Amino acid sequence: MCGIIGCVTRKDDMVPTLVEGLRRMEYRGYDSAGVAVLHDGRVDVRKTVGKIEALAGVLSGDPVIGGTGIAHTRWATHGEPSAMNAHPHSDSTGKIAVVHNGIVENYRPLRRQLETEGHSFQTETDTEVLAHLIEKYYTGDLAAAVRAALAGVHGAYGIAAIHADEPEMLVAARNGSPLIVGIGREGYFVASDVAALVRHTKDVVYLDDREMVVATPDGFSTTTLQNVSITKDVERITWDVDQMQKNGYPHYMLKEINEQERTVMDAVRGRLIEASGDAFLGGLREHRDALKKAERILILACGTSWHSGLIGEYMLEDLARVSVEVEYASEFRYRNPVINPGDLAIVISQSGETRDTLAAMGEVQRRGGTTLGIVNVVGSSIARQSDGGVYTHAGPEIGVASTKAFTSQVMVLAAIALSVGRAHSISVIDGRRIVRAMLDIPSQIGDILGQSGKVEKIAEKYAGHQNFLYLGRGYNFPVALEGALKLKEISYIHAEGYPAAEMKHGPIALIDEKMPVVFIATQDPFYEKILSNMEEVKSRGGRVLAIATEGDTEVARIADDVLEVPDTLPHLMPLLAVVPLQLLAYYIAVLRGCDVDQPRNLAKSVTVE
Ligand code: AGP
Repeated sequence: MCGIIGCVTRKDDMVPTLVEGLRRMEYRGYDSAGVAVLHDGRVDVRKTVGKIEALAGVLSGDPVIGGTGIAHTRWATHGEPSAMNAHPHSDSTGKIAVVHNGIVENYRPLRRQLETEGHSFQTETDTEVLAHLIEKYYTGDLAAAVRAALAGVHGAYGIAAIHADEPEMLVAARNGSPLIVGIGREGYFVASDVAALVRHTKDVVYLDDREMVVATPDGFSTTTLQNVSITKDVERITWDVDQMQKNGYPHYMLKEINEQERTVMDAVRGRLIEASGDAFLGGLREHRDALKKAERILILACGTSWHSGLIGEYMLEDLARVSVEVEYASEFRYRNPVINPGDLAIVISQSGETRDTLAAMGEVQRRGGTTLGIVNVVGSSIARQSDGGVYTHAGPEIGVASTKAFTSQVMVLAAIALSVGRAHSISVIDGRRIVRAMLDIPSQIGDILGQSGKVEKIAEKYAGHQNFLYLGRGYNFPVALEGALKLKEISYIHAEGYPAAEMKHGPIALIDEKMPVVFIATQDPFYEKILSNMEEVKSRGGRVLAIATEGDTEVARIADDVLEVPDTLPHLMPLLAVVPLQLLAYYIAVLRGCDVDQPRNLAKSVTVE
C-alpha cells in the first residue's frame, strides 16, 4: 500500500539513493512522499503531496544531506493526501522520524492518551502516534523505545525510525506489512520491496511478523519484538534492475503484456513432462497426496487473482474431478467459514502481501486446513506463511493493473489441474495433448501480440464510451470479468463482466448504441449459444466487439468488430482470449489520457483492509 525505504551508512550523500528507492516502489502508492535524514545532530525532513517527482523538485530547491535516513511514498489510508500528512512523521521534539506502511487500528485511543500526556499532533494520520509513542518511551535507546511503542499498537505495520541523538542507528519492524533488510557494501538498508534495493544489493533478509532489525553502518541484528535474538537466512535476489525498466515501452503495463510470450513459459518451465503427459511442481511435492485426496479445494484470492482462481475452479473440477469453491478472501475471512481438516486451500496472490488474502489463509490454517500459495513475489508473506506452494516466476510486475501475473497464475493452475487430473481420470494420451497445447501457448500469444496495431485502431472507435458490458461463457466467463476489470481500473470507464446467459436476466435492459458489448466468442462448447447472445444484442441496437477463433466467419457476420485468437483447448483459451482485452484496455486508457501504470486511487499491493 505504501513504500518505505531506510539506510544507515557513514556517507553523507544517501538522499538520491533514498529517492531512487522510492521511485522503484511508486507503484505501491503515490499520492505524497517524503524523506528524513540525520545531519549535524538533527533530523532534516522534506515532504510533499504528489508523486516522487514532486519530492525530487522540493529537494532540488531545498536540498538536505545525510547518510542515515528514511523515506516514504504514500497511499493514503487516514488523512487526505497532503504535505502535512505525508511521511515521515515526527514527535514533539522533532528528534524522531518514522515512516510506516500499514494501519494503526487503535490510533484513536492511543492519540487521546498521548494528548492527555501533553503530546500535540500536527496531522490527521494514524502514523503520527508511532512517533509520539517512541518519544514517550525514549530514554536513549531507540530500539528499546520502538519495542515499547509497538507493544501497544494493534494493526499492520512495516515501520522504520531514526533519532537525531543516534546518528548511526536505523530501527525497523514489521507486523503484517512486508519489510526486507538489504546488506549493502557501505551500510544497510530496509525497504518494503526488494525492487527498492536491488540496484544496491542482491543479498537480503526477509523479516517475518513481529520481528525487528537494528542496524548500524557496521552490521545489523534481528530480534523478535520481545527482544529475543533470532537468526535469519540471507537470500540472494535472482533478477536485476533491467527487469524493472520499461525497455523502450511507453508504460510498464504494455511491456508486461508483451512479456507474456515468455512469462507464461517461465511459469511452467521444467514442470511439464510431455512423455507422461503430466506436470510436476516441486513446491507441491509434499502435498501431491493432499491435493489428490482433497475432498474439497478452496481457492482464496482478490481481484485479478480471484479471476484466475475462478478459471482454476473450472479446470480442477473439469480435469481433476475435485470439488472446488472460489472465495473472495475479504468475504471468506469474516463469514466464519466451515473448514474441514481434509480441506485444502489454494491461495493466489501476485504480491503475496494482500492483507485480506493473508488473513483468509490464516483462517484456513487456524482450523486445520492445508494452504498452498500461488505467488509471484519471492519471499513474500503468503509465500513464507503458506504450507507449500508454487512461484509463478513472472518477474516484477510494476504496472498496477495485473497482466502477466494473471496468465502465469492460469498456467500454474493448468499444470496443477493436469497433475491432479492425471492421478484420477486423465489418460496419458490426453495428458500429452494438454502438455503440447500448453507448450504452444507462448507462440500463440506472440501471434496475438502481433495484432496490437489492430487493437489500437479498434480502441479508437470505442474510447469515448462510458459503459461497457463484457460477456462470456464457461472458461471465458472469468475472462469477461478480467477484461472488464482491466478496462475500469486503468481507463475509469464503468465496465461489467457477466455470464453471457445472465444477460437476459437484467443487463439486457442496458443494451443500446451507447453500451458496447464485448463478447468472448471463441469456438468452444458454448459457441452456438454465444452467437445467439450476440444476435440478441445486435437486435437491440447494441454494438458488438467480439474475440473470435482465427478464421471464424460466423462471428464476423454478426459483430461490428472482431479480434481473432488462435484455437486451443477450452481450458487454455483464457490465456489467449485475455490478451486482446488487456491491449484494448491499455489503448483505450492511453487514448483517454489516463495514468496507465499508476491509476488514480489504486495501489499495486493492498496490504491494508
Ligand atoms: C488487478 O489488476 C488489480 N491490481 C487488483 O485487483 C489485484 O489483482 C488484487 O489487489 C490482488 O492482488 P494480489 O494478486 O497481489 O493479491
